[in-house]
Amino acid sequence: MIDLRSDTVTLHTDAIRQAMAAADVGDDVYGDDPTVAALKADGARLAAKEAALFFPSGTQANLVALLTHCQRGEEYIVGQKAHNYLFEAGGTAVLGSIQPQPLDFADDATLPLDTVSAAIKPDDFHFARTLLLSLENTHNGKVVPQDYLRQAWELTREWQLSLYIDGARVFNTAVAQGIPLSEISQYCEYADHLPFQRIGCPGRIPFVR
Ligand SMILES: Cc1ncc(COP(=O)(O)O)c(C=O)c1O
Repeated sequence: MIDLRSDTVTLHTDAIRQAMAAADVGDDVYGDDPTVAALKADGARLAAKEAALFFPSGTQANLVALLTHCQRGEEYIVGQKAHNYLFEAGGTAVLGSIQPQPLDFADDATLPLDTVSAAIKPDDFHFARTLLLSLENTHNGKVVPQDYLRQAWELTREWQLSLYIDGARVFNTAVAQGIPLSEISQYCEYADHLPFQRIGCPGRIPFVR
């Protein structure tokens, strides 16, 4: 019988167990774990990014990413049924005091961009500052179209948001479309203004509605 409750019920093969048991290890605090170093280097190369981090779980990776993008009192736009909103025990609120702005997914696993822009808060002290658009690819087993990602990325540049993708199954997305990971990760980018905002620069360009 094939267990179709989730792809997460898949068990490691003997080859994977043997590779784990035979891996060269060391203290990664000192950068001495060659296997972790190789994994991070591979991740950075495949995503065409400066560096990559290794996390033992997707939940932890999502949490660190969202806490990196947003500080307390700031906001991320996210799908109602996104893992990093619905299934992660409210970790961003508990640990980061970050406010989610959940929106309904469309049937094609996208967050409609007119709804996204309508949810971006004006630059006014009554509102949490919207800083991030968080997508998921795949979402619910569906590949997010590349054309949508490009449009979402353009919207985030226009509104000075960063764009994050929960890529728990991003390699499936890449394989399904026959494209390298870097074509997806090219859209995962900080907003240009972010370093200034972090040090309290008062000059954030006001939102234009
Ligand atoms: C889209 C998505 N993100 C994150 C996670 C969390 O991963 P983990 O179970 O490793 O914490 C999952 C788990 O299935 C997931 O489906």
